[in-house]
Amino acid sequence: MERTFAMVKPNGMKHGLLGRILSRYEASGLAVQAIRVVKMTREQAEGFYAEHKDKGFFGELVDFMTSGPVALLVLGGEDAVAKVRALNGATNPANAAPGTIRYDYAPSVGENVVHSSDSPESAKREISYWFDESEPVEYAVARQLATV
Ligand code: RTP
Ligand code: MG
Repeated sequence: MERTFAMVKPNGMKHGLLGRILSRYEASGLAVQAIRVVKMTREQAEGFYAEHKDKGFFGELVDFMTSGPVALLVLGGEDAVAKVRALNGATNPANAAPGTIRYDYAPSVGENVVHSSDSPESAKREISYWFDESEPVEYAVARQLATV
Protein backbone atom coordinates (compact mmCIF):
# COMPACT_ATOMS: atom_id res chain seq x y z
CA MET A 1 0.00 0.00 0.00
CA GLU A 2 1.28 3.44 -0.96
CA ARG A 3 -0.12 6.87 -0.21
CA THR A 4 -0.11 10.00 -2.29
CA PHE A 5 -1.30 13.56 -1.81
CA ALA A 6 -3.50 15.22 -4.42
CA MET A 7 -5.36 18.50 -4.73
CA VAL A 8 -8.27 19.73 -6.79
CA LYS A 9 -7.19 23.31 -7.51
CA PRO A 10 -9.49 26.37 -7.27
CA ASN A 11 -10.72 26.20 -10.88
CA GLY A 12 -11.62 22.52 -10.46
CA MET A 13 -13.66 23.32 -7.34
CA LYS A 14 -15.26 26.38 -8.97
CA HIS A 15 -16.40 24.34 -11.97
CA GLY A 16 -17.82 21.51 -9.86
CA LEU A 17 -15.27 18.88 -10.88
CA LEU A 18 -14.43 17.40 -7.45
CA GLY A 19 -16.85 14.48 -7.77
CA ARG A 20 -15.80 13.60 -11.31
CA ILE A 21 -12.11 13.74 -10.37
CA LEU A 22 -12.62 11.62 -7.23
CA SER A 23 -14.56 9.08 -9.33
CA ARG A 24 -11.54 8.62 -11.58
CA TYR A 25 -9.21 8.05 -8.62
CA GLU A 26 -11.64 5.62 -6.98
CA ALA A 27 -12.29 3.76 -10.23
CA SER A 28 -8.55 3.10 -10.48
CA GLY A 29 -8.71 1.24 -7.17
CA LEU A 30 -7.50 3.99 -4.84
CA ALA A 31 -9.20 4.79 -1.53
CA VAL A 32 -9.86 8.32 -0.30
CA GLN A 33 -8.21 8.15 3.14
CA ALA A 34 -8.59 11.82 4.07
CA ILE A 35 -10.21 14.86 2.49
CA ARG A 36 -10.52 18.49 3.51
CA VAL A 37 -11.61 21.67 1.72
CA VAL A 38 -9.58 24.78 2.58
CA LYS A 39 -8.95 28.24 1.23
CA MET A 40 -5.17 28.55 1.48
CA THR A 41 -3.49 31.59 2.97
CA ARG A 42 -0.61 33.07 0.95
CA GLU A 43 1.77 31.80 3.62
CA GLN A 44 0.43 28.25 3.26
CA ALA A 45 0.64 28.35 -0.55
CA GLU A 46 4.19 29.80 -0.49
CA GLY A 47 5.28 27.11 1.97
CA PHE A 48 3.69 24.30 0.01
CA TYR A 49 5.30 25.43 -3.25
CA ALA A 50 8.63 26.52 -1.68
CA GLU A 51 10.60 24.42 -4.22
CA HIS A 52 9.34 26.79 -6.95
CA LYS A 53 10.00 30.10 -5.14
CA ASP A 54 12.71 31.22 -7.60
CA LYS A 55 10.65 30.43 -10.72
CA GLY A 56 9.11 33.19 -12.79
CA PHE A 57 5.62 31.76 -12.34
CA PHE A 58 5.75 31.63 -8.51
CA GLY A 59 3.71 34.80 -7.88
CA GLU A 60 1.00 33.75 -10.33
CA LEU A 61 0.95 30.27 -8.84
CA VAL A 62 0.39 31.63 -5.32
CA ASP A 63 -2.26 34.08 -6.60
CA PHE A 64 -4.11 31.24 -8.31
CA MET A 65 -3.85 28.74 -5.46
CA THR A 66 -5.26 31.29 -2.99
CA SER A 67 -8.06 32.45 -5.33
CA GLY A 68 -10.65 30.02 -3.95
CA PRO A 69 -11.07 26.80 -2.02
CA VAL A 70 -9.11 23.66 -2.90
CA ALA A 71 -9.73 20.01 -1.96
CA LEU A 72 -6.84 18.32 -0.15
CA LEU A 73 -6.81 14.55 -0.68
CA VAL A 74 -4.90 11.59 0.72
CA LEU A 75 -5.25 8.64 -1.64
CA GLY A 76 -4.05 5.15 -0.78
CA GLY A 77 -3.52 1.96 -2.76
CA GLU A 78 -1.05 0.07 -4.90
CA ASP A 79 1.26 2.43 -6.86
CA ALA A 80 -0.80 5.41 -5.69
CA VAL A 81 1.83 8.02 -6.64
CA ALA A 82 2.27 6.82 -10.24
CA LYS A 83 -1.43 6.06 -10.71
CA VAL A 84 -2.55 9.56 -9.78
CA ARG A 85 0.21 11.22 -11.87
CA ALA A 86 -0.97 9.13 -14.85
CA LEU A 87 -4.64 9.97 -14.29
CA ASN A 88 -3.81 13.68 -13.96
CA GLY A 89 -1.73 13.83 -17.17
CA ALA A 90 1.18 16.09 -18.12
CA THR A 91 1.69 19.36 -16.20
CA ASN A 92 1.01 21.35 -19.38
CA PRO A 93 -2.42 20.27 -20.64
CA ALA A 94 -1.21 20.89 -24.21
CA ASN A 95 1.00 17.81 -23.69
CA ALA A 96 -1.52 15.75 -21.71
CA ALA A 97 -2.75 12.46 -23.20
CA PRO A 98 -6.42 12.14 -24.18
CA GLY A 99 -8.49 10.76 -21.32
CA THR A 100 -6.42 12.37 -18.59
CA ILE A 101 -7.93 14.89 -16.19
CA ARG A 102 -5.79 17.75 -17.50
CA TYR A 103 -6.57 16.89 -21.14
CA ASP A 104 -10.28 16.92 -20.35
CA TYR A 105 -10.52 19.90 -18.00
CA ALA A 106 -7.38 22.09 -17.76
CA PRO A 107 -7.30 25.38 -19.69
CA SER A 108 -3.57 26.12 -19.17
CA VAL A 109 -0.36 25.04 -17.40
CA GLY A 110 -0.88 27.70 -14.76
CA GLU A 111 -4.44 26.55 -14.01
CA ASN A 112 -4.05 22.82 -14.52
CA VAL A 113 -6.93 21.72 -12.23
CA VAL A 114 -5.10 19.11 -10.13
CA HIS A 115 -1.89 18.50 -8.23
CA SER A 116 -0.33 15.26 -7.07
CA SER A 117 2.91 14.25 -5.37
CA ASP A 118 5.80 13.32 -7.67
CA SER A 119 7.34 10.61 -5.42
CA PRO A 120 6.54 8.65 -2.23
CA GLU A 121 8.96 10.98 -0.36
CA SER A 122 7.13 14.09 -1.63
CA ALA A 123 3.85 12.42 -0.69
CA LYS A 124 4.94 11.97 2.93
CA ARG A 125 6.06 15.60 3.15
CA GLU A 126 2.94 16.97 1.45
CA ILE A 127 0.51 14.82 3.51
CA SER A 128 2.12 15.98 6.75
CA TYR A 129 2.06 19.61 5.51
CA TRP A 130 -1.76 19.54 5.47
CA PHE A 131 -2.86 16.69 7.74
CA ASP A 132 -2.20 15.54 11.27
CA GLU A 133 -0.68 12.08 11.12
CA SER A 134 -3.72 10.73 12.98
CA GLU A 135 -6.32 11.79 10.39
CA PRO A 136 -5.63 9.28 7.60
CA VAL A 137 -5.17 6.50 10.15
CA GLU A 138 -8.45 7.32 11.90
CA TYR A 139 -10.20 7.33 8.56
CA ALA A 140 -8.69 3.97 7.60
CA VAL A 141 -9.92 2.48 10.89
CA ALA A 142 -13.39 3.94 10.31
CA ARG A 143 -13.49 2.36 6.85
CA GLN A 144 -12.56 -1.04 8.25
CA LEU A 145 -15.26 -0.83 10.91
CA ALA A 146 -17.81 0.22 8.29
CA THR A 147 -17.14 -2.88 6.21
CA VAL A 148 -17.49 -5.35 9.13
P1 RTP B 1 1.76 19.57 -9.63
O1 RTP B 1 2.96 19.69 -8.71
O2 RTP B 1 0.80 20.72 -9.52
O3 RTP B 1 1.09 18.22 -9.65
O4 RTP B 1 2.31 19.69 -11.08
P2 RTP B 1 3.62 19.13 -11.63
O5 RTP B 1 4.39 18.35 -10.61
O6 RTP B 1 3.22 18.45 -12.88
O7 RTP B 1 4.35 20.50 -11.93
P3 RTP B 1 5.47 21.26 -11.13
O8 RTP B 1 6.66 21.33 -11.99
O9 RTP B 1 5.63 20.71 -9.74
O10 RTP B 1 4.84 22.71 -11.04
C1 RTP B 1 3.91 23.02 -10.02
C2 RTP B 1 2.81 23.84 -10.59
O11 RTP B 1 3.29 25.11 -10.99
C3 RTP B 1 2.50 25.60 -12.06
N1 RTP B 1 3.31 25.94 -13.20
N2 RTP B 1 3.10 27.00 -13.93
N3 RTP B 1 3.24 29.05 -15.84
C4 RTP B 1 4.10 28.04 -15.90
O12 RTP B 1 4.93 27.95 -16.76
C5 RTP B 1 4.02 27.01 -14.88
N4 RTP B 1 4.80 25.95 -14.76
C6 RTP B 1 4.35 25.27 -13.69
C7 RTP B 1 1.54 24.51 -12.45
O13 RTP B 1 0.29 24.78 -11.84
C8 RTP B 1 2.16 23.28 -11.85
O14 RTP B 1 1.19 22.30 -11.58
MG1 MG C 1 5.00 19.04 -8.72
